[in-house]
Amino acid sequence: MTYDFDQIIDRRQSESVKWRTYGSDVLPLWIADMDFRSPEPVIQALQARIAHGVFGYGVESAELHATLVERLSRRYGWQVAPEACVSLPGVIPGFNLAARAVAQPGDGLLMQTPVYPPILRAPSNMGLTRDTAPLTRQADGHYGIDFDAFEAAITARTRMFLLCNPHNPVGRVFTRHELTRMAEICLRHDLVICADEIHSDLVFPGHTHVPIAALDPEIAARTITLIAPSKTYNLAGLKCAFAIIPNPDVRARFLAARVDLVQSPANILGQTAALAAYRHGQPWLEQVLRYLEANRDYVRQYVAAHLSTLSMAAPEGTYLAWLDCRQAGLPHNDPSTFFLERAKVALNHGTDFGTEGEGFVRLNFGCPRAVLSQALDRMRQALL
Ligand SMILES: Cc1ncc(COP(=O)(O)O)c(C=O)c1O
Repeated sequence: MTYDFDQIIDRRQSESVKWRTYGSDVLPLWIADMDFRSPEPVIQALQARIAHGVFGYGVESAELHATLVERLSRRYGWQVAPEACVSLPGVIPGFNLAARAVAQPGDGLLMQTPVYPPILRAPSNMGLTRDTAPLTRQADGHYGIDFDAFEAAITARTRMFLLCNPHNPVGRVFTRHELTRMAEICLRHDLVICADEIHSDLVFPGHTHVPIAALDPEIAARTITLIAPSKTYNLAGLKCAFAIIPNPDVRARFLAARVDLVQSPANILGQTAALAAYRHGQPWLEQVLRYLEANRDYVRQYVAAHLSTLSMAAPEGTYLAWLDCRQAGLPHNDPSTFFLERAKVALNHGTDFGTEGEGFVRLNFGCPRAVLSQALDRMRQALL
């Protein structure tokens, strides 16, 4: 079937955090969910499950794990044993549990900033230090990796590298070469890799997602990969995610950490939705990717043509644009407050992603084109 992503669905009346946080005069292009209905087979599967009427504690679904394993093999040639799959209520609990499983208080966690705020906060949740290897930014807005700085950020206490790929907020889909070099450094320093690959299905033509664990069995043996259908199929409120942990020792440590904090990790509706999405959601995914790519290009062209004091590089994946507003001369170098107050457009504060984000905002283009274009028009007016 053909999906209509131009359709405007009123979310203000729902419990949506995106649409309920700001006033009714504000267009919200901030938190990372999309304003689209999920694939029809997902909605039908949920309706059938709801008709059963009993919603007690669930068991981790072997059927879902088998479907996931088959999908990883088909998409990436990555062979994973079903027992390597661990269900979780989210990717955020996943990387916090990973930190708890592999590090002791006072140990360090390596990350590449600017980065998704809950990643930035993970060390302090667990009494760990944050070891940062900032991404390097080129004049055209494209971000890269300084491998010497990456290695230099590792201390004798660093235990884990928390990779975000595709990267939120800068939109990079790291290449096989970049991933191999990072993995080699992690191997050399005996680090566990926790790979947040939640955006891995949202990759635009010309780029390819490579799971870092799929590079090599030796790397897989030290990697905890976190994935979910939530960004891909717009199911974030259904709380269903997975860790893939091939190494039985690392998995045992992770499960020991999970048992104390997450009783009954399987969300029964989330699992129902995930299974339907992974089995029948491919046509929807192909269509939404084309729509998002066109939105991405629309934002980029609009910024170049009408918001010339702002700049951005085209994200290679995700539905998030990272806008450099430092040349716009905005009050207090605080563009998100400026656009909220003057344009009535809600964007994410750059500094929430680390100090490197000062003067930046993150814009979510996972919405109907008409909403996107109205928001950009308002931003243009505000800058006049
Ligand atoms: C990189 C990244 N990790 C994790 C999450 C959230 O994961 P979850 O809702 O499954 O906890 C997001 C949501 O935006 C994200 O961008």
